[in-house]
Amino acid sequence: MTAKPAPGQTDPVAIDSASGKAAAAAPPANPLWGGRFAGGPAEIMARINVSIGFDQRLYAEDIAGSKAHAAMLGQQGIIEAADAGRIIAGLDRILQEIEQGCFPFKAELEDIHMNVEARLAELIGPAAGRLHTARSRNDQVATDFKLWVRAALERCDAGLRDLQAALIDQADRHAATVMPGFTHLQSAQPVTFGHHLLAYVEMFGRDRSRLRDARARLNECPLGSAALAGTPFPIDRAMTARTLGFDRATANSLDAVSDRDFALDYLAAAAIAAVHLSRLAEEIVLWCSDLVGFVRLSHAFTTGSSIMPQKENPDAAELVRAKSGRLIGALNGLLIVMKGLPLAYSKDMQEDKEPVFLADDTLGLCVAAMAGMVRDLQPNPTAMRRAAEQGFLTATDLADWLVRVLGLPFREAHHITGRIVRLAEDGNRRLAELELSALQAIEPRITAAVFDVLTVEASVASRTSPGGTAPARVREAVNAARERFL
Ligand code: ARG
Repeated sequence: MTAKPAPGQTDPVAIDSASGKAAAAAPPANPLWGGRFAGGPAEIMARINVSIGFDQRLYAEDIAGSKAHAAMLGQQGIIEAADAGRIIAGLDRILQEIEQGCFPFKAELEDIHMNVEARLAELIGPAAGRLHTARSRNDQVATDFKLWVRAALERCDAGLRDLQAALIDQADRHAATVMPGFTHLQSAQPVTFGHHLLAYVEMFGRDRSRLRDARARLNECPLGSAALAGTPFPIDRAMTARTLGFDRATANSLDAVSDRDFALDYLAAAAIAAVHLSRLAEEIVLWCSDLVGFVRLSHAFTTGSSIMPQKENPDAAELVRAKSGRLIGALNGLLIVMKGLPLAYSKDMQEDKEPVFLADDTLGLCVAAMAGMVRDLQPNPTAMRRAAEQGFLTATDLADWLVRVLGLPFREAHHITGRIVRLAEDGNRRLAELELSALQAIEPRITAAVFDVLTVEASVASRTSPGGTAPARVREAVNAARERFL
């Protein structure tokens, strides 16, 4: 088996079909509980039980947790200081072996915890047997996994920050680029492309704040909860918590070994971020369509067709859109694993890791691909402007003018504007192209000043309310976003 974590590699048990046992599982079956167990597991038992194929990704966290535990045991006089020293040196050596790809992972040792401990015994002899004092794999795996998820939260935050930077740069360049804004995917009112992109900056900002919240809640150390009830040894939980960068030790041993909320928090934040990515991906697909043509992606982010030479397909955007399904599935999967579990630990919880690993891999890929696309995309301001001038998008501006200048109630203004739009539609003209006399035939008090509000530029420039689409506001929002997020 390779030492480096290989995503997707989940079933590494070699089978001896004649004996029906895991091939290498000769009795005494298990270095951890061999005392009572006479024979090895049935082949199928080994196959369903084994997790080293995926939980080897926890190796760095497992070693860090064990080092902190050993140092604490030494300091508290629970084990000899010399033994603690040997254990820590041995663990450092194991870390090196794994990182150099020469660690002998063994499927019959089930998981990362037992693989590390068994190798420690090979390296340093009997002192290795003292490491598991005042500890269980239950508090061990909860600690390892929290450390791993904490790093995943930080990775995800960094990725989203970079994506925000890409969006903010494009928004800055296009603070005044007019495009149609939509509701119901029907042209609604003119907005600027910069304003539209900044909407996604807000979404990813909320995603990052969810990740921050999750990190704060996660950051309590389960180590020292032992199997479920705590331990009679005089351990110093504050010390191990501090060493591992936790804010404090968890308060309840039963909860500590059976809590996977931190993984669910991460997956929930990841799934919501994936939904945001998917929405942006969908817009990119639409914008790239020949029917719309608002943006182009370069050949760096499109693929050709094997049969239609003219095609440039936005595959990366389509895949980001599709892969959101995996993230939503990962959250659902773990929720379903957890929902019926009595306290405290159950082996079901071994199934917590793959959805989280899959989420980390998938989200990392999607966020990076999206940042690449956002930097790559070339807006077509002419096409955007042309679309914004179709469909009477300044009709609301006309109604607002009737309210502001003539003092009409909005409902009446809406009605009059409707008749004017109908007139323009029938004559196949834009609102700004209608003659004043034609407008006055519908509402005599209209003056030539109305034409000032009927262009798309005037429309966006007038939307100066805080958070609005006026280019001046968008430029302020770009600066504020840099301050808030980068
Ligand atoms: N591989 C196990 C897991 O991931 C480690 C904990 C096993 N504990 C136990 N009591 N069997 O959950």
